Amino acid sequence: MKLIKLSLASCALLAFAVACNNTQPAQNANAGASPKAAANSATPAPAATPDELAAAAGDYARSCSNCHKADGTGGPWKDEETGKTVKVPSLREHGLKDPDSELAKQIAEGGDEMPPFKSRLDKGRIDNLVRYIRREFHGRTTTATGAATPAQPSH
Ligand code: HEC
Repeated sequence: MKLIKLSLASCALLAFAVACNNTQPAQNANAGASPKAAANSATPAPAATPDELAAAAGDYARSCSNCHKADGTGGPWKDEETGKTVKVPSLREHGLKDPDSELAKQIAEGGDEMPPFKSRLDKGRIDNLVRYIRREFHGRTTTATGAATPAQPSH
């Protein structure tokens, strides 16, 4: 008799525990439903979120892919204003060993036929473009500190 009571009691306890656990995901989901961080947030998050890199993908498509190509391979690009053809380096092969700061500087300052972007893109967006290049073309992820592991050349 005692044993049955005991197991009934623990059953009730178990049911309670399960019910308790079931309420947790709902609470977590609510907590996570905070408004999206603004794209131009003054304080960039330490690690890139998918949203940040989605914005970077948009920036790349708008500002970079006409020269560097959507897949980063670059190649000859004709400057319609000067009529000159510029040899655009492949982002898949160049800058692999350069630190993040070097890539960010090239994007901000431009140079050697590449226009500067610092007046159009703020530092957070430029940093995310560097992350985007690392992920899409160099096959690796970076942290804000630039501690990256060398990539294996894919081809
Ligand atoms: C008008 C064509 C043009 C556009 C637009 C352009 N680039 Fe470039 N980019 C170049 C050329 C040319 C170079 C080579 C510069 C050099 O030799 O120093 C270059 C170099 C670079 C490098 C350095 C690669 C290396 O050798 O280390 C990076 C990184 C880069 N571009 C990223 C970008 C990003 C990101 C954008 C968009 C925000 C962009 N570029 C837009 C033409 C362009």
